[in-house]
Amino acid sequence: MVSIMIYNDIYMNHLNRVYNFSAGPCTLPMDVLKEIQEDLLSWKGKGMSVMEMSHRSDLFGEILHDATSRLRELLNIPDNYSVFFMQGGASLQFSAIPWSFLSSDGTADYIITGAWGKKAYQEAKLVGNVNCIFDAEKEGYTFCPNLADLQVHSGQDYIHYTSNETIHGVCFHHQRKWDVPVVCDMSSDILSKLFNVEDFDLIYAGAQKNMGPAGATLVIVKDSFLEKAPERTHMMLDYRQMAKHHSMPNTPCTWSIYVCGLVYKWIEKSGGLSEIEKVNKRKASLLYQAIDESGGFYKGHAREDSRSFMNITFTLPDEHKTEKFMMEAKEKGFIEIQGHRSIGGCRLSVYNAFPEKGCELFADFMHEFIKKC
Ligand SMILES: Cc1ncc(COP(=O)(O)O)c(C=O)c1O
Repeated sequence: MVSIMIYNDIYMNHLNRVYNFSAGPCTLPMDVLKEIQEDLLSWKGKGMSVMEMSHRSDLFGEILHDATSRLRELLNIPDNYSVFFMQGGASLQFSAIPWSFLSSDGTADYIITGAWGKKAYQEAKLVGNVNCIFDAEKEGYTFCPNLADLQVHSGQDYIHYTSNETIHGVCFHHQRKWDVPVVCDMSSDILSKLFNVEDFDLIYAGAQKNMGPAGATLVIVKDSFLEKAPERTHMMLDYRQMAKHHSMPNTPCTWSIYVCGLVYKWIEKSGGLSEIEKVNKRKASLLYQAIDESGGFYKGHAREDSRSFMNITFTLPDEHKTEKFMMEAKEKGFIEIQGHRSIGGCRLSVYNAFPEKGCELFADFMHEFIKKC
């Protein structure tokens, strides 16, 4: 908690840093950047940086072990789950999951609440039988359904959904128990709040939003589900080998894993996930409040019950005002506020490391901008 506050205060004064609302890669905690800076030329006095270390060395072994143990602690991951880092981004998981877990005579159900869920579904379709049990495309991906209302086919190989849709800014606020294995893409909200790992059979997330630099993709998988993966398949898609060789059947993304470990330590120091969740809720509500109090000037994309705490999406009355808004924001040091090219408007990505102060200042800017229009 202390760490977040210090970070907020020094953020803008230090090296003229900007408030970076990028959807990922994105803002990293200042404490982490400083630790990297200290470690850069000689990690813990060992005479080399992490980038120069053999992934087979004891030193990197220590870094990897430290990162996975901290993550296990933070998420309270039970012993019957394996944790490892893969490559190829979350996008490779879209293919690797059906490749390993969709049987030739089986089917998987997909819930589609945005562009990423759609991509996951389309990739899985290339592998085998998939069934879309929900798709909010016609409604412009403005909401997530109540999971409890969805009819699931029994005997499916798995059900897949995306907990937070980064482009549309919608997320699920409730989980439910399923009687089929559950696979979840948590790329843009992992570690943003408390949740129960045991509600899932496989969780995956690219590092570049709430964890660290792009490169590593975190996989958390229940061992009984892992056993359903083929005994042997292409090395880079082989979940069993990844688990057995602790992320290292080949050279892993050493740098990305190292920074993830530092971010996990920062989350611990910041008070753990319960504290992080409170701060994230405060940050998002500052921005949603600015939308709600604008008398319709700003229009939120997401339905209120599905609003994301990580990606706040909205539009302005017309293109001219949107451009002016973005230009003035940039002049004030707020960058990457444009919405994804597929939906336009604005998007504010406020992952864990984005400072609360930045949300306060941006909300003020939103109020001020209306007065000038
Ligand atoms: C929810 C979600 N899933 C998947 C992806 C794809 O990730 P990657 O670019 O690491 O393949 C993204 C990227 O932003 C995402 O936000």
